[in-house]
Amino acid sequence: MCINDISMSQLIYTLLLLLLVVATFGKTRACNETCSFTVDYEHDTFLLDGKPFRFVSGSFHYFRALPGSWRHILRSMRAAGLNVVMTYIEWSTHEPKEGIYNWDGIANLEQFIRIAEEENLYVILRPGPYICAERDMGGFPYWLLTKYPNMKLRTSDADYLREVEKWYGVLMPRIKKHLRGQGGPVIMVSIENEYGSFSACDHRYLSFLKNLTESYVQNDAVLFTNDGPELLKCGRIPGVLATLDFGAVDNPDLYWQMLRKYQPRGPLMNAEYYPGWLTHWTEPMARVPVGPVADTLRTMLSSGASVNFYMFFGGTNFGFTAGANDGGPGKFQADITSYDYDAPLDEAGDPTSKYYTLRSVILEYFSDPDVPVPPRLPKMSLPSVKLNRYGSLMSNEARQALGYYTVFSERTVSFEALNQHSGFVLYEATIPSDSNRNALLLKVQGLRDRAYVHIDNKFIGVLSRDTATDSMSVKLGQSKRLQLLVENQGRINYNIANDFKGILGFVTLGGNEILNWTMTGFPLDEYSLLQNYVDRYSGYDVETSRNAAARIFQGTFVIHSQPIHDTYVDPTGWEKGLIFINGFNLGRYWPVAGPQVTLYVPRHILREGINTILVIEYQQEIQGDAIIAFTDQPKLDGLLPFNNFLIQK
Ligand SMILES: *[C@@H]1O[C@H](CO)[C@@H](O)[C@H](O)[C@H]1NC(C)=O
Ligand SMILES: *[C@@H]1O[C@H](CO)[C@@H](O)[C@H](O)[C@H]1NC(C)=O
Repeated sequence: MCINDISMSQLIYTLLLLLLVVATFGKTRACNETCSFTVDYEHDTFLLDGKPFRFVSGSFHYFRALPGSWRHILRSMRAAGLNVVMTYIEWSTHEPKEGIYNWDGIANLEQFIRIAEEENLYVILRPGPYICAERDMGGFPYWLLTKYPNMKLRTSDADYLREVEKWYGVLMPRIKKHLRGQGGPVIMVSIENEYGSFSACDHRYLSFLKNLTESYVQNDAVLFTNDGPELLKCGRIPGVLATLDFGAVDNPDLYWQMLRKYQPRGPLMNAEYYPGWLTHWTEPMARVPVGPVADTLRTMLSSGASVNFYMFFGGTNFGFTAGANDGGPGKFQADITSYDYDAPLDEAGDPTSKYYTLRSVILEYFSDPDVPVPPRLPKMSLPSVKLNRYGSLMSNEARQALGYYTVFSERTVSFEALNQHSGFVLYEATIPSDSNRNALLLKVQGLRDRAYVHIDNKFIGVLSRDTATDSMSVKLGQSKRLQLLVENQGRINYNIANDFKGILGFVTLGGNEILNWTMTGFPLDEYSLLQNYVDRYSGYDVETSRNAAARIFQGTFVIHSQPIHDTYVDPTGWEKGLIFINGFNLGRYWPVAGPQVTLYVPRHILREGINTILVIEYQQEIQGDAIIAFTDQPKLDGLLPFNNFLIQK
């Protein structure tokens, strides 16, 4: 529509509305000494700068999108009528190694808060320190288990409390100036995360965490807990606002009544309202229909509740950040790399039809933000790339270039005991000369999570935790060396068992325990090592690694102008592994397990001119040319009718 189409009265009305919006924001943003965010229990409402306030919010975890896209996504959220963004704060993102802090790039939390404020969104922070979130170890840094193997996370274990105190001592001063009471946009800060679902039910720990959080936040923001409606008993903290987490239901009032038993007055808040859901490998992609989501939203907003969508934008579990769930023995369920979540904004940050439906419901209750919905950004496909081969991780050259350490021990030890976060540990032992040389049963107890079994550098099959496959028959012949290349598929994030990785139990051949192990660590978290390896590769060791798993490929592709479009890499024809583009770890691919096939490639990691793609394929022998494709369409619903993700050679 152009200006001539608008009648004069419409024009005046629009101008007045604009003035009103400007005036409203002028007032709420520049609050000076009246800045505050509090709870008025008597009138069942929040008070922003002393005035009744309620919100519709969306979860967006800054650590799941590159900073270059933060503003676009936040603006798309505001355009949907949201007035708040909620994010977890992930300890392992900010302290990946003990005492080594990261606040730059994707870890620039303060920048995220500032951009949210500029886009007229208030902010709710959820520092955990446990966040679950389908992230490795629920957001805890792995090194806690290196330092304290017996640590009881989320309890009043003294070591745990001391580490949390130290972390909050670094984190909280950075947040402080952004709190509402200090004039910033942060209105609420959470304590723990669905603690009522955790069996420990340690009230002393909650009290400790409340006191610690309060000592920093004071009255500058509202503290809250969040729990499933039936789980308030162990989750709520007296004196802290209790909120609920639930998805679309016929009658949300039944849930609010459960809350009212514990908290007779105060604003109602659904802190995790699910418009989508998470997905594990080998499951169908979670798809949540919008109809019931819109209906329950309308009911909640009609009863005056505040609502946060979990997730409004999901994003991506780049690198090794995806977690896993534990469905019991033989039901280890690793989370897929995409965190699209079937959310209103898709993995690339584009509005879906769900977005528009929910936006129209929101605008029945909240004033139009007068921000145009950013259009879907076009995506690009690229010509397929032919990759060169650089042998296997198991080659002597790769061990020297990429192996962080070699350790000897009578029995196998865990990744954490070796102070290793990610990637692989190669466990090797000599096969006893008196072994029966025909067929023997190899059994690996406590395998976490997946072993690529080799005999004398020949890859012979896979054992895996997710299918409870812990043994296989092996023919020894004259062979000398047993080699188990063990992959960490992501630490459990829910209800947080101490999910050590590696081989935690005995390894036996024909019932006899194998002793005296050599362990080599391949964390694969430093790209420069991979690049150096590829640059120096001479093919010298190709003979010894010809039949081994975990093979390295690299190729280049050219983009002729400044890249402004995202793309997707499509590893169809490959089986399981890891992809780096220009040194950025896109995450794990596993199209033979599905449902996720393509990996999202954000435009921000691409460059004009020559780009590099490096693939580590864990299990497939690529015959003929090694080709990988790029597409302009995500493929997340690619579950195969027959899973062939386990291989026995
Ligand atoms: C938290 O503070 C309250 C009030 O000062 C105190 O009674 C309680 O013991 C503290 N909790 C812990 C675990 O120290
Ligand atoms: C393991 O190593 C120890 C010390 O080197 C040695 O005494 C022992 O015989 C070895 N055991 C096996 C089964 O090889």
